[in-house]
Amino acid sequence: MRNGIMTTDKRLLTVLLVEDNAGDARLMREAFKDSGDPAVLLKRVETLSGALECLDQAGTDIVLLDLSLPDSQGLETFTRIHGRFPDIPVVVVSGLDDESVAVKAVQGGAQDYIVKGRLDRPGLLRVIRYSAERKRAQQAFLASIVEFSDDAIIGQDLEGLINSWNRGGEKVYGYKIAEVKGKPISILFTSGNYDGALAQIDRIKKGEPSVSFETFHLTRDGQRINVALTISPIKDALDQLIGVSTISRNITDHKRAEEELLRSHAQLRDLAAHLQTIREEERTEIAREIHDDLGQMLAGLKMELYCLKPKVGKKTVENKINSLLKLISKGIDASRRICARLRPVVLDDLGLTAAMAWEAKEFEGRPGIECQMRLRPPDTPTSRDCSTAIYRIFQEALSNIARHAQAKNVKVLLKEEGGCLILEIQDDGMGIEEARVSSSQSLGLVGMRERALAHQGTVVVSGKPRQGTTVRLAVPLVPKEKEAPVS
Ligand SMILES: Nc1ncnc2c1ncn2[C@@H]1O[C@H](COP(=O)(O)OP(=O)(O)OP(=O)(O)O)[C@@H](O)[C@H]1O
Ligand SMILES: [Mg+2]
Repeated sequence: MRNGIMTTDKRLLTVLLVEDNAGDARLMREAFKDSGDPAVLLKRVETLSGALECLDQAGTDIVLLDLSLPDSQGLETFTRIHGRFPDIPVVVVSGLDDESVAVKAVQGGAQDYIVKGRLDRPGLLRVIRYSAERKRAQQAFLASIVEFSDDAIIGQDLEGLINSWNRGGEKVYGYKIAEVKGKPISILFTSGNYDGALAQIDRIKKGEPSVSFETFHLTRDGQRINVALTISPIKDALDQLIGVSTISRNITDHKRAEEELLRSHAQLRDLAAHLQTIREEERTEIAREIHDDLGQMLAGLKMELYCLKPKVGKKTVENKINSLLKLISKGIDASRRICARLRPVVLDDLGLTAAMAWEAKEFEGRPGIECQMRLRPPDTPTSRDCSTAIYRIFQEALSNIARHAQAKNVKVLLKEEGGCLILEIQDDGMGIEEARVSSSQSLGLVGMRERALAHQGTVVVSGKPRQGTTVRLAVPLVPKEKEAPVS
């Protein structure tokens, strides 16, 4: 750093001395003269307004500022100058009695302070040079961060006019700085979405530290791109809002990939739902075939054997016929059971509630489990497909209780609430572990959710250790129209 000061020492430095006291000003002037450095050009003004006027004309490298002036006193003298010219380094000159104010000025952005009469002459020159260099280094550092960012970093004033534009802006939008400086930021927006951005800027004006959102922008050649914007306030040293800065990232490719992923997810879901439907149809078909063909055949066989029995006369043959009749009865029972497992007839003939009651009765057949049912069917009946999905979810929940829960009591509640059909299955078993609930390996639970999702519903599974598990299904009774796919 010291080397840095040495190398730039030779450059002519224009110092603006803001000092109303003629004696102090003379001492300062002599200090510069005596330092033997011809590379300092000292200008002097006596008031704050004079200083602001002078700084309006470019050319000042550093300000040496007395805080007590005829038209301004204390810290405000500094903040007025720094607020308007944040890029110009300021060294505060203080008296012995207001050193604490000078310290505050440094905290607020002044480069340094010197106390009148305390600093030797070479020391004064060093403070000036060092302050100017430090400010330049800070600015160069910030400028390089902004300049070499791949994101567009855009400054605008409160009227929405662009006042700064980095190289990233050129990459993202294709405009060079000269083409956009002084132009309204609205040139980047499509006609419909500028109002949305204004509403976000309003939030900044009301004091929010930053806002982030996604929108569309237009490039120089009229292309529409997706951008992620972060807008933050630009404030002066008096903490007054003087503009906003926008960091804009082109997320068009990312967005396209995201949409592609969503589309393929939706396709996979549709495919899974389609396969489920086919599966249900096939099961229904097989159940019907077993019932109609095999069931009828067995029933016919049974009747024939009954007719044959009295005509046989021989005890041994009659015994054989009796055992055959028993076997056939078992066969008939088995075919009924298989039919019911494949597709309970009650679901098609009597509806969801009856099928659930039947399923629960079967379930209660297990020793040590009691099942309490409160089924209040909604007025609006669910579609056949939806009833099947609900029924299968119910079956899976009961099967899980039987296999994993070690529960004694199960409560089932079916009701209508807020336009949805709600099904709650609660057990008092060991409680499902959190990790199992969200695991992609829990295919039974994944299947429940997918079945519900196919009907715009949700399944929430929750458990507490040793207090049981609850499965809650909610399905809208009147499904919403499906949205058109994103183009
Ligand atoms: N009611 C319950 N009580 C306690 N643990 C449960 C309960 N239901 C599910 N679980 C736990 O969650 C895991 C995942 O359940 P899931 O139904 O997805 O799979 P599974 O029943 O093991 O196998 P399947 O794919 O045949 O259904 C189970 O292995 C079990 O550990
Ligand atoms: Mg399971």
